[in-house]
Amino acid sequence: MMRCLTLYSEGSHRWLLFGQDTDASPTVIDTNHLAVCADNAAMLLDPGGMEVFPAVLGAMVHQIDVAAVQHVFLSHQDPDVGSALPLWRQVVAPGATIHAPALWTRYIAHFDAEAVLTPIADEGGEVALSPSVKVRLLPAHYLHSSAAFCVYDPRARILFSGDIGASLLPAGAARDIWVQDFAGHIQYMSGFHRRYLGSTEARDAWIDSVMHLPIDILVPQHGLAFRGPDVMRFLDWLSSLPIASGLEAYRRTPGLPPGASRPVPASKR
Ligand SMILES: [Fe+2]
Ligand SMILES: [Fe+2]
Repeated sequence: MMRCLTLYSEGSHRWLLFGQDTDASPTVIDTNHLAVCADNAAMLLDPGGMEVFPAVLGAMVHQIDVAAVQHVFLSHQDPDVGSALPLWRQVVAPGATIHAPALWTRYIAHFDAEAVLTPIADEGGEVALSPSVKVRLLPAHYLHSSAAFCVYDPRARILFSGDIGASLLPAGAARDIWVQDFAGHIQYMSGFHRRYLGSTEARDAWIDSVMHLPIDILVPQHGLAFRGPDVMRFLDWLSSLPIASGLEAYRRTPGLPPGASRPVPASKR
């Protein structure tokens, strides 16, 4: 059974979070899926993989008119983000605009070659759900994917951050939707961020770009969401985290000389 939580509701403007499917296979990473609604339109954010399609759709039909799904957003190219795209497109929303990073359109086509994708330029963009509700697509490149985007709703003050902020909780752990104890939550985020995020420069640029946005809720694609002061606690924590830990493998790999030498550029010889 997939849980559903209303993150924001003001008239027809709503943010709904679907996740923590208790029937999900333990072999697949747990994912969050969002629906943003305004007037007669709905936008799905990271609708998810093939494996969870029945559970997400089953939960969603109780909450929204799925015929109103006019937009589908894929934060990046990963299968947990959108490998169910052909099912959403064919079964639920044949006329929806599918927003996907321009860099990845020909890769996403391996899930669904028939889909007409609307490429998101590196600079991001905006999607209007109604005359008064517009969401912004903000760059999150290299975090972790080479082309990735977040979705920010200035009216609801919600940031959907994709894989940034993800946490992996132990199977069967009693959990809320929200982070309740930030210090205690760090253990579930650390490994993911250290290894999946590869660029300190990109991390710093992203933090600078979102730091001054009013954000009441930050919700990642995996694990628990942050609200209130925990949003800034998370950005603070992330800003000083050592990342790109995969580089350590070069030192551990047998046969590679320690500090393996690179060709010295002619200018430095
Ligand atoms: Fe990912
Ligand atoms: Fe993910």
